[in-house]
Amino acid sequence: MRFQRLRGFQDIAGDEARRFAAFTRTARRVFRCFGFEELETPVVEEKALFTRALGTETDVVQKEMYAFTDRSKTEVALRPEGTAGIVRAYLENNFDKTRGLAKFFYAGPMFRSERPQAGRLRQFHQIGVEILGTESPLSDAETIHCLDVLLKTWGIEGHEIKLNNLGTFEERGHFREVLKKYFKPHEKALCEDCRERLSKNVFRILDCKVASCRPWIEKSPLIGEHLSEKSREHFARVCAALDAAGVRYTLAPRIVRGLDYYTKTVFEVTHAALGAQDALAAGGRYDHLIESFGGAPAGAVGFAVGVERILMVPVAEERPARHFSFFIVTLGAAAAEKGFKLLSELRERHLPASMDFEAKSLKSQMRSADKSGSRYVVILGDDEIAKGMFVLKDMESGTQKELSWQDAVEKLEDLVPSPLRGEG
Ligand code: HAM
Repeated sequence: MRFQRLRGFQDIAGDEARRFAAFTRTARRVFRCFGFEELETPVVEEKALFTRALGTETDVVQKEMYAFTDRSKTEVALRPEGTAGIVRAYLENNFDKTRGLAKFFYAGPMFRSERPQAGRLRQFHQIGVEILGTESPLSDAETIHCLDVLLKTWGIEGHEIKLNNLGTFEERGHFREVLKKYFKPHEKALCEDCRERLSKNVFRILDCKVASCRPWIEKSPLIGEHLSEKSREHFARVCAALDAAGVRYTLAPRIVRGLDYYTKTVFEVTHAALGAQDALAAGGRYDHLIESFGGAPAGAVGFAVGVERILMVPVAEERPARHFSFFIVTLGAAAAEKGFKLLSELRERHLPASMDFEAKSLKSQMRSADKSGSRYVVILGDDEIAKGMFVLKDMESGTQKELSWQDAVEKLEDLVPSPLRGEG
C-alpha cells in the first residue's frame, strides 16, 4: 500500500528545505533588530476565534476553514492565519496589562481549503509580526519598513508595496453602503459571484478579475474620498514616515483585503515573478480586534509573508555553492574508527560533518562527498594513519594537502568562518 500526500499539501525536502530554513533564519534576525520577540500559538484554536476575527462573510470563514468538532464536542479549526491567535494570546497572558505595547513575531503552518494552484496551497507557511497596543502611525511605518528590510535582506528586488487607507470601522461601514449604492444599478452586468458579493461582502467585488466586472470596478468610488480628516491625517503620517525611512511604495486606492478586521492602513506586496497569486505578503492595521476579543480598546498593526511564495522569487544565490561542512572518507577498519572519532568531535563543536559508514571504495566515497555538497573532505587510510597524517581536500578549488593528525579538529574548525559555524 503506497500513500500519497493530499492535494495542496507539500513535502519540503532537499534544497527547498535548506532555503526554507535560511529564510526563517533571515526573518528572525531582521525581526530581532526591530525589537520583535517570538510568540508561538497553537495550530488548533476554537473555531469562533477565527469567525469573530476574520468576519463571517469572508471567503476564508465561509469556504476555506478546516473546521471540525473534536472528541470533547468543541468546534475547532486549523488556523487559517496567525493574527487572531496572537491577539487571543496577548489578552489571555495579560500582556495588555503587564506590557501595554507588545511586539511579537511568529512562524508556522496555516491551513486554507482553497483550490490549489501554483503559489496557492492548502497548507502553507507564514512568518509575520504584530504590534499590539498602539495607534501610532509610526508603528504602521515601522511594520512596513520591517517587511521591506526583510525582503531586501533576502535578496528580493523589484517588489511593489501597495498601500491604501480604509479609515475607521464606522467609515468603512458607511463606505460599504456607498459601494452598494454604486454597484446596484449595474448588478446585471456583474459576474455571478459579484452579484452575490453585492449583498454579502461588497468590498470583495473590488478584487474581482472577471473582464466584464473590471470597467465598473475601475469607475467605482474611492474610499479615500469618504474618510474623515483624522483618518486622512493618520495615513499622511504613515506615508511621511515611510518617505523618511526611504521605503518605496505606491498608493493603491482600491485595495481592500480579504479579512474583515482591517482599519486605516492596509498593504500588499506583490512581485512580477509570481503568476496569478502574486502577493508575497500583506497586512495592515486592525484597531478593533483587541476590543472585540474583550480587551480595552487598543490599536494594532502587522503583516504576514507567505514563505512558499517568497521562495518562488528568484534571488541571487544567498549562500556559497558549497557549504562549510566536512565529509570524512576512510579506508580500512582502523581508519573508520579514527574517522568516526573525528566526526563525533566535529559535531560536538557544531561543525556539520558526515561520513559514509558503508565504507565502499575510495571512488564511491568521493562521489558521496561530492553529492553532499561539502566544502572539505578529510581522507584517512592506513598510510596516513601510519604517518600520523590526514589528507584535506578543498572541493571548491580541487587542491589537497597533507596535514598532521595532531589538533586535527582545531585545524578544521579554523577553516570555517565563525558567523557560519553550526549552519552547514
Ligand atoms: P493574508 O493576505 O490572508 O493575510 O495572507 C498573507 C500572505 O500569506 C499572502 O500575501 C500570501 O503570501 C500568503 N498566503 C495566503 N494564502 C495562501 C495560500 N493558500 N497558499 C500560499 N500562500 C498563501 C493574513 O493572513 C493576515 N493575518 C496578515 C496580517 C498580519 N495582517 C495583520 N497582521
